[in-house]
Amino acid sequence: MCGIVGYIGKEQAAPILLDGLSKLEYRGYDSAGMAVYDGEKINCAKATGRLKVLYDLTHGGETMPGCSGIGHTRWATHGAPSDVNAHPHFNADKTIAVVHNGIIENYVKLKKKLTDKGYEFRSETDTEVVAHLLDYYYKGDPLEAVTKVMHRVEGSYALGIIFLEHPDVIYSVRKDSPLIVGRGKTGNLIASDVPAVLKYTRDVYFIENEEIARLSAEDIAFFNVDGEPIEKESKTIEWDINAAEKGGYEHFMLKEMNEQPKTVRDTMNPRIKDDQIVIEELGMTDDEIRAIKKIHIVACGSAYHTGVTSKYIFEGLARIPVEVDVASEFRYRNPILEEGALVLIISQSGETADSLAALREAKKQGIQTLGIVNVVGSSIAREADKVMYTWAGPEIAVATTKAYSAQLIAQYLLAIKFANVRGKLSDTEMAAMLKDMKKLPDQIEMLLNNKERIQKFANRYIAAKDVFFIGRGIDYAISLEGSLKLKEISYIHSEAYAAGELKHGTISLIEDGTLVAAVATQDDLFKKTLSNIVEVRTRGAFVMAVTNEGNTEIEKNADYVIYIPQTNKYFTNSLAIIPLQLFSYYVSVGKGCDVDKPRNLAKSVTVE
Ligand code: G6P
Repeated sequence: MCGIVGYIGKEQAAPILLDGLSKLEYRGYDSAGMAVYDGEKINCAKATGRLKVLYDLTHGGETMPGCSGIGHTRWATHGAPSDVNAHPHFNADKTIAVVHNGIIENYVKLKKKLTDKGYEFRSETDTEVVAHLLDYYYKGDPLEAVTKVMHRVEGSYALGIIFLEHPDVIYSVRKDSPLIVGRGKTGNLIASDVPAVLKYTRDVYFIENEEIARLSAEDIAFFNVDGEPIEKESKTIEWDINAAEKGGYEHFMLKEMNEQPKTVRDTMNPRIKDDQIVIEELGMTDDEIRAIKKIHIVACGSAYHTGVTSKYIFEGLARIPVEVDVASEFRYRNPILEEGALVLIISQSGETADSLAALREAKKQGIQTLGIVNVVGSSIAREADKVMYTWAGPEIAVATTKAYSAQLIAQYLLAIKFANVRGKLSDTEMAAMLKDMKKLPDQIEMLLNNKERIQKFANRYIAAKDVFFIGRGIDYAISLEGSLKLKEISYIHSEAYAAGELKHGTISLIEDGTLVAAVATQDDLFKKTLSNIVEVRTRGAFVMAVTNEGNTEIEKNADYVIYIPQTNKYFTNSLAIIPLQLFSYYVSVGKGCDVDKPRNLAKSVTVE
């Protein structure tokens, strides 16, 4: 999500910035910009669209003289992709330029405060707050202004900053967004990721949270959040460019799975304030929420599976009837949509043809629509009455992982909010749920750290022909996604079944050694699923079970058990899916498949 590059040295900066940004294109972006100090003032160029547009606009950077500058590729979050919203952002008199990667979570509050003090905002971005806040705190000492801003902003950020009054240095800081500093031969660089600097140096400093770097042409100094000098050691990068783009991971899918703790945090944190859920973009009054009579969830692929999960939550918690449809069915079945209905369209890309058509169908019938979308400014985001964004960042691997996790979180938030507003969930109960929700990122991280055990197990199944996933309730929804992941990337036939339905046909396919993945995280259904496990095992199945910590009695009936940490029963999908993603991933790797680009599949299905 967004790319930052900065250079200060002996060479012309702009061509180096463009070159560095081109190495960050994989991160996804929809506009780009640069600010370069020319010896007198800070010049700026911005362009919506591909980097090539900015390249052509500046003749490959040649038309921007100066040896110090910052560049940015923006993946829109706050505000649509446009020249105005593209970075860099400036204070009023253009003496401070800022590029930013991340989300300033308290920007609304800060913007109000700054507006009250007379600051005028040009863009819709959260980033512009940083430029004006720096201006507000700057009294001649840039380091002091930077540390003050760090104390005021909440959320995630990597920043590159130029102060016109201190043109011989560039400042850079980070918190929860990536940032590295490179010591080059002709000058020094900052970047969001290593590939951007590899052409110039392999000598790199990894900036830790709340650390500040000050770069001049010859020197690099580091400070802590209080502005005190700190020592850092550089590392020599041994990776090649390809590996570096994936942050050292072998595949984008592995990288994206590992980004899930962050994705969940980013989607959740800005919307939880003092034990309340605040979804500003929902734009619905409590009365309107109370008036919802029915929810239709419409989506495709994994997004549809998140809807299957949230049906249980909306119905269980908020007691609102929910219908879930795959979009390609919904659009042609002449759906009955009655007044008081809310249509939820869930889509990572925001461009899936069937989901878009379903949205239009709902609008045609005059029904209010809410998009849960990852790509800002995409068709579904633009056309839905309201949009709630998942802050997962660009997803490159065709098989979704982090966007799926973010979609779940967005729906948990909605369901809990609706339940609370409709009087079905007290403030105390909601606070307890939110407490559990906040633990999810660390719990996901813990499960990801267990990858070697899953890898060993997965290696035993690379020759499998059929795999069955079973579960009940939310566990059935998890099974659907686990099964889809496996077939998508490993080409092994797999099916997900509601465990209780097995006896009506599928159990005839169980043979000696057939792998059955049984998901059993719902306490009230545990015994029932256990019976189904026994049934398949009696017929020769090898059972891999995913269940909650403490359910050790399952070990008597399952051959291989994966435990997930305790959480609220409605959140188990967020945890149980992690080992299933890892399992699919390692089977695919073991088989030598093209993990990130499986055959016949596309990331964004823009035809029906
Ligand atoms: C494709 C992708 C899936 C995704 C589905 C829906 O099949 O491979 O990962 O879940 O499309 O895409 P959307 O962008 O609408 O979420």
